[in-house]
Amino acid sequence: MYYFSKDIPNALNRKEYYKKDYFYSMILVTGGTGLVGSHLLYFLLKENKQVRAIHRKSSDLQAVKRIFEYYVTKAEAETLFNNIEWQEANITEIPALTDAFKGITHVYHAAAYISFNPKHYRKLKKANIEGTANIVNLCLANSVKKLCYVSSIATLGTPLNGAEITEETHWNPEEKNNVYAITKYGAEMEVWRGTQEGLDAVIFKPGVILGEGYWNSGSGVIIKTASKGIPFYTDGGMGVVDVQDVVKAMIEGMHSQEKNTSYVLVSNNIKYKTLLTKIATRLHVKPPKNRAPKWVLMLFSKLDWLISKLFGTRRILLKATVNSLYTVSNYSSSKIEKKLDFQFAPISETLNRVVDHYSIES
Ligand SMILES: NC(=O)c1ccc[n+]([C@@H]2O[C@H](COP(=O)([O-])OP(=O)(O)OC[C@H]3O[C@@H](n4cnc5c(N)ncnc54)[C@H](OP(=O)(O)O)[C@@H]3O)[C@@H](O)[C@H]2O)c1
Repeated sequence: MYYFSKDIPNALNRKEYYKKDYFYSMILVTGGTGLVGSHLLYFLLKENKQVRAIHRKSSDLQAVKRIFEYYVTKAEAETLFNNIEWQEANITEIPALTDAFKGITHVYHAAAYISFNPKHYRKLKKANIEGTANIVNLCLANSVKKLCYVSSIATLGTPLNGAEITEETHWNPEEKNNVYAITKYGAEMEVWRGTQEGLDAVIFKPGVILGEGYWNSGSGVIIKTASKGIPFYTDGGMGVVDVQDVVKAMIEGMHSQEKNTSYVLVSNNIKYKTLLTKIATRLHVKPPKNRAPKWVLMLFSKLDWLISKLFGTRRILLKATVNSLYTVSNYSSSKIEKKLDFQFAPISETLNRVVDHYSIES
């Protein structure tokens, strides 16, 4: 039995209404088999929420159980996992996705295709823009109360003179935007379109997410690389955030009466040298000592392109990656800190936790 807004007594004020409305909810999670989605599932289940999660035929559901085991015992992880109502659906295929929306009141949309390779543009457009349009349309068709969408800082512009980047630093189509950023921006446009058609939504824009469990992608690759004691570092830096902060913010954003708004999620702007040194020190391996000049990596990227053209091999070092390795940006999350009274975990705590988990498993 689900409760809908008409069941909530009129006497409740708006804040209480939102809280109570969320309390009696049936939640749909997309991307539940990925880094953000799996940690989100844990926190939702811990709150005893009724959760349906979509997965694809090829998805690794066991990975989700392994994430739960970072938090609780194997037996408890199994019990929590069994409380999820799994449904096979691809966000780009409407019939199964339509079924997955039955009885849903709140949606967390964390599914996305992540690649910076220009060759993957069509696939990126399909999953990120078309997939999000489908989610938005089904939210509208099913009178979903709120959609929480995970976007990225990649959809923000570059300010002049290295000024702080906030939610107000708007996307600039004239910049050399990479294919991932273009499609995440297109996805956001679909969410904003939904809000114009009556959907309540909140968008989060995390920086690079530090979290355990997925060591072959995203920040997992940085930890894995640093664990080998690499001697080189590059001049750039990045905005980072703990996966637990991302999911806590998402849940808080869903609870909150703030709607049709976006929040940057970056706890720290950190130079690569500092980050790699912290990881290496925790793992007792040599920290990087030598600065790698940009031209060397650009040359390597060009060779990599040529080899991939000649032999059809997978690209290792994209031009977009080299550019990001030499960029320093200054993101600010003061909006969420003020509006939702949100506090980020100190980066040292995050790194110690994640790196220790890596060290136990490797
Ligand atoms: N990781 C970061 O550092 C970072 C930073 C900023 C923003 N983000 C954003 O955060 C969100 C979550 O990222 P993540 O790191 O958790 O990504 P991830 O680990 O790569 O997981 C992606 C998830 O999306 C699912 N997915 C992809 N295409 C799908 C489709 N067509 N239909 C249904 N499911 C599909 C994947 O399912 P399978 O298991 O079947 O592949 C997986 O569950 C994304 O929107 C991403 O753009 C991530």
